[in-house]
Amino acid sequence: MRRDLFAMPPGIYLDGNSLGVMPHAAREAVLRRLDEWQRDAVEGWDRWFGLAESLAPSIARLVGAHPHEVIATGSITANLHSLLATLYRPQGGRRHLVATSLDFPSDVYALQAWAARYDAELRLIPSRDGHTLHEEDILAALTDDVALALLPTVLYRSGQLLDVAGLTREAQSRGVLIGWDAAHSVGSVPHALHDSGADFAVWCHYKYVNAGPGAPGGLYLHERHHDRLPGLRGWWGHDKGTQFEMAHTFRPAPGAGAYQLGTPPILALAALEGALSVFDTLSLEEVRARSLELTLHLMALVDAHLPELRIVTPREPARRGGHVALVHREAQALSLALRARSITPDFRSPDILRLAPVALYNTEAEIEATVGVLRELLDTGAHRAVEAGGLVT
Ligand SMILES: Cc1ncc(COP(=O)(O)O)c(C=O)c1O
Repeated sequence: MRRDLFAMPPGIYLDGNSLGVMPHAAREAVLRRLDEWQRDAVEGWDRWFGLAESLAPSIARLVGAHPHEVIATGSITANLHSLLATLYRPQGGRRHLVATSLDFPSDVYALQAWAARYDAELRLIPSRDGHTLHEEDILAALTDDVALALLPTVLYRSGQLLDVAGLTREAQSRGVLIGWDAAHSVGSVPHALHDSGADFAVWCHYKYVNAGPGAPGGLYLHERHHDRLPGLRGWWGHDKGTQFEMAHTFRPAPGAGAYQLGTPPILALAALEGALSVFDTLSLEEVRARSLELTLHLMALVDAHLPELRIVTPREPARRGGHVALVHREAQALSLALRARSITPDFRSPDILRLAPVALYNTEAEIEATVGVLRELLDTGAHRAVEAGGLVT
């Protein structure tokens, strides 16, 4: 779609759902900020002081929120802790937490810590097939003793996309606060967090937003919660106008900006600044349409040529995100063999090969070549000769 805007690594890169490819604009923005540091040293803060806030309109567009409802800060895990510290107030009979058995472990660790603090339960919604979630099972978990639920927009292994608006409505009609881990959907699927009424969301910018390794995370808090004091506080969440008065009374910045803690990583924010400038020029609906086109093409070729690989990503467009998950008992060996042939997939233990044909920079030809190599590997068994080694991410 806009491959020209990216510094593509050599070979075929299908791992943008783990770490997006570098946009030229990200590199340029970082170099610009480095020049400012070199030239201005501490005076540079005049320019950098409001950098995170200046990115909020672009981020808000990606998640369908008002700019004052979002901020780039922390990481998914840190932001989740921060929002739980604010919103999770077990009261009376309504005290337990709900997440899913297919969640990314870091979310579960964070929720476990909060459940333990309040002597509450963390209930994990089961999966019937080990890959996807049934809406009835999610609804069944939202009982009247549950205070807060965290759900993934797109499941990180299977790529299943949940009905964010529908489930938000259901949770709230049952009196349950609801938050979303949108790591695998932001930058790939359009969102309407504000209109859905979701209480909060967390996500990263290093996957489909292409802001680089360890990019500052994303935090959304619906404006109905902006009258609360953040559960975790730091001077960077203080009202900007009076932050440098250094008073010992915390006056929160209006909106999600109050959830910043310490000094932001300006060079990392610069990469995000550049990466967001790419999205500013694109229609998110077109990004989604192109993503669906590419994943459909991939699934059709797998069906036709790779019957040994089982697609566990839902087929319906409304139920799949930006990557396709293929199950095979030799998935790890296949992944290593693809890498040895300059094709970068992604492996998730024990048996999932994830392929993410990213709307912004991947092509049909790359998908076809990858399917061709997989066919050859399965025919020859050459992947079994590849020694497992190195870091399998
Ligand atoms: C779905 C999901 N949630 C949470 C995390 C953890 O994110 P972070 O390392 O930014 O805290 C990841 C990391 O890849 C993820 O994919």
